[in-house]
Amino acid sequence: MPPLTICFINRKGGCGKSSCTFHLAGTLAKEGRKVLLLDLDPQASLSQGIFGPAAVEALPVDRSIAALFDDGCDPEPAELVRPTPFQGISIVPGSNALESVNYPSPQECGELQTAVRLFLKEAREGFDLVLIDCPPTLALCSWNALVASDFVVVPLQPEDYGSQGITYIQRFIDQALAKHNPGLRLLGYLLTMVQPRLGVHAAYSGQLRSLYREKVFTNVMPHAAHFKESIAARQPIAFYKPRCASSKAMQAIAAELLDRAAAAVKSPAEFTYFENRVLGNVEVA
Ligand SMILES: Nc1ncnc2c1ncn2[C@@H]1O[C@H](COP(=O)(O)OP(=O)(O)OP(=O)(O)O)[C@@H](O)[C@H]1O
Ligand SMILES: [Mg+2]
Repeated sequence: MPPLTICFINRKGGCGKSSCTFHLAGTLAKEGRKVLLLDLDPQASLSQGIFGPAAVEALPVDRSIAALFDDGCDPEPAELVRPTPFQGISIVPGSNALESVNYPSPQECGELQTAVRLFLKEAREGFDLVLIDCPPTLALCSWNALVASDFVVVPLQPEDYGSQGITYIQRFIDQALAKHNPGLRLLGYLLTMVQPRLGVHAAYSGQLRSLYREKVFTNVMPHAAHFKESIAARQPIAFYKPRCASSKAMQAIAAELLDRAAAAVKSPAEFTYFENRVLGNVEVA
């Protein structure tokens, strides 16, 4: 089977996109898969989580993912894909230079819309999975991720502000489907930083599940200090504390991610339709 390309997208900042990408890469690599990470965020959080801020700052722009958006540059995969300290994980690092090419009207950007897709055609060879971290904007970087991906995952917190943007994301995904990538499928909404004892989390989780049903991942990413600590230690949770409850939670999400991808490959029609159902007011017990 060719490698699966999955992007993690949400216009909402701080909802756990980079954390999901980082920890899932660790869990999948620990299970023996070869993972290529693409850091498409000008903040370069994913790259900093692995190499630290100083190393990312010192990285020449033409050795980062920003090179794909530079007309004068035609990088070979070997120039951009670099190993990480973790067996099974490679990364094309991000760069602050992406900020100036993250144009707000991506559909007017001509060939730049397919820069990542073209690069991945060759670069993904030899990998089992490509995971793409997106910035909290629905602009050229996230558009490139959608155009290049087989699947989308939308991480979101089960809270009011956390859930409000779903309609805009669905519209953006619909546009990518119609314009460049008819094969794109939504793997699902992944609830992040969940605190089950919080009434508001229980209420919003319930409403999201009743509105979006099977489109919401059964497994959730719990809120836990270990996730923060492991990023500070520059290790995905599967390497930092492989036997802790947080690591087990990521294993369950990784298994569900692969199950959903297999189901979507088998019955793509079931993963095609994006229902625009707007979240109403939620009563908190
Ligand atoms: N499950 C979790 N438990 C505790 N803290 C978490 C969890 N997931 C993420 N965080 C913390 O929440 C913050 C935001 O997470 P993260 O950077 O992954 O979000 P993001 O969506 O990538 O943000 P941005 O939109 O800025 O790219 C970080 O400080 C991270 O350590
Ligand atoms: Mg991020």
